[in-house]
Amino acid sequence: MDLKSQIDLEKLPRHIAIIMDGNGRWAKTHGQPRVFGHKNGVKAVRETTEAAAELGVEYLTLYAFSTENWNRPKLEVNALMALLVETIRKEIKTLNKNSIRLKAIGDISKLPPKSYKALLEGIEDTKDNTRMTLVLALNYSAQWEIVEATRRIAEQVKENKLNPEDIDQTIFANALSTMGMPDPELLIRTSGETRISNFLLWQIAYAELYFTETFWPDFRKLHLYEAILDYQRRERRFGKTSEQLVK
Ligand code: FPP
Repeated sequence: MDLKSQIDLEKLPRHIAIIMDGNGRWAKTHGQPRVFGHKNGVKAVRETTEAAAELGVEYLTLYAFSTENWNRPKLEVNALMALLVETIRKEIKTLNKNSIRLKAIGDISKLPPKSYKALLEGIEDTKDNTRMTLVLALNYSAQWEIVEATRRIAEQVKENKLNPEDIDQTIFANALSTMGMPDPELLIRTSGETRISNFLLWQIAYAELYFTETFWPDFRKLHLYEAILDYQRRERRFGKTSEQLVK
């Protein structure tokens, strides 16, 4: 039986998050500059998005550029930003054809104006699509997001719109950029690294973590199916005992 048909569609994660890693090393193994790896990473983005939508995943969040990525060589940062503009412009038609809504999390107003504009256009042009939401984490870091949420909540308290005693997990979750989205049940990181790297720290409280040696540019539908099957083989207990789950 092929991998896809082994997936239990009743137990599909509603939200999958991916740390796309290994573009640079992939390029090196091909004797090419790092940017070549990023360009080929776009193919993996396309395949993964298609596979997730076909299965019926509701949210796919991709870590495309972290707050820390600004520290990379200027040439690489510029190339990544240009690739972002190019990819969004090129893919909008396909996103619409497949009813995929584009969304972004992160401090996107700090992106170069061209990238920011392309992103806002992409979000606007796909806003009515309902099949799946593709979330790009751009200039994103979870610690930034948590500080921002805290600031927002503090302002509401200052304006007497909120009592400190009323602050709970729901209020906090609603102050995050992922407001209204289910938390990811499955977090995938490619390229053999086993770190979280400041990604969705609040939201992955109960996520299953899946690490693969595959470099991101080599990631294809089959790799996503493998990750989902691995996730489905695990027992998710949310702090309960196995016996309590049997009911
Ligand atoms: C990590 O590999 C990858 C990135 C920081 C960028 C991801 C970007 C893309 C896949 C292309 C653009 C995406 C979209 C959504 C348009 P790395 O460079 O850290 O690899 P290394 O660890 O081998 O150096």
